[in-house]
Amino acid sequence: MQNIKEKSSITIEFEQEVYTGLTDHPKHLSSKYFYDKKGDKLFQDIMAMPTYYLTDCEYEIFVNHKAEITELFSRQGTFDLIELGAGDGKKTKILLKELSDKNINFTYLPIDISENALNQLENSIKREFPKVKVQPFQGTYFSALEEISYRKNRKIILFLGSNIGNLEHNQARGFMKKIQQLMTADDLLFMGFDQKKNPQTILDAYNDQDGITAAFNKNILARINAEMGANFDLDEFLHWEVYDPETGTAKSYLVSKIEQSVRIGNLDSTITFKPWETIHTEISQKYDDEIITWLAKEAGLKMITSYQSKNNEYKNCVFNKS
Ligand code: AVI
Repeated sequence: MQNIKEKSSITIEFEQEVYTGLTDHPKHLSSKYFYDKKGDKLFQDIMAMPTYYLTDCEYEIFVNHKAEITELFSRQGTFDLIELGAGDGKKTKILLKELSDKNINFTYLPIDISENALNQLENSIKREFPKVKVQPFQGTYFSALEEISYRKNRKIILFLGSNIGNLEHNQARGFMKKIQQLMTADDLLFMGFDQKKNPQTILDAYNDQDGITAAFNKNILARINAEMGANFDLDEFLHWEVYDPETGTAKSYLVSKIEQSVRIGNLDSTITFKPWETIHTEISQKYDDEIITWLAKEAGLKMITSYQSKNNEYKNCVFNKS
């Protein structure tokens, strides 16, 4: 690798992970690199697809249970509502409206890596809910959470959209444990978990006919082309989705249709692909009560309540420190 000294730590990490992942057997890349401006837009498009049921399910839970949820949050007086990966805040706004209408005293602290997304969110909240105090934090979840932890207020931490599902169980356990360590006895963790269901429904959510998910998956190659001087031909890779109903793991792959070599200029490397060789890019874990209970126990958390969508396809669970 060359010139790494002048690069930002984010670029260095991306380059190192690409190098490690594409020289490994079998090849892999991390889905956290799907998201740049184009990737964010593609994910917005995915969330609007009728087959991507997750967003609608969580929205439905918030609409149907907003009174109970906000009562649970505000039971002990003032609090900080901290959202990890806030994005456009579409679902959270249902809760913000309910809290604002009930004149409850709280501060909303959205955390996101994207400054652009945070600015847009802050402006829209100030416009739509002028009474809500909003204090955005730009950065990674844990750097921001650590910055926030000096605050005296009780914390309600939101981690929505089944984002936890993009982590393997061991990583998810570590992630929840880290949050648990930043919580005090009165704090709550409110998380979304997509549920195991008819395998066809899951395959349809991750393999749409319009090719939006395929473009999202391939965006990681587009980013490597743009940011590392590479020459991936996106048309020579196939988006492939599998779902294992036994483990509840959906896996996304990029499959090389032909024998090919790809030059990655910034890494001074040439990566070769055999026909039908794979790059594993994402897992989207689906859960049942046993897995959630296991994760919570391992992380030192106790589930105090949960809300499910009408068709039982999605659950929001609330934990405190056990
Ligand atoms: C962000 N994350 C929870 C999405 C998911 O369902 O795993 C990302 C996604 N991948 C393909 N479609 C959507």
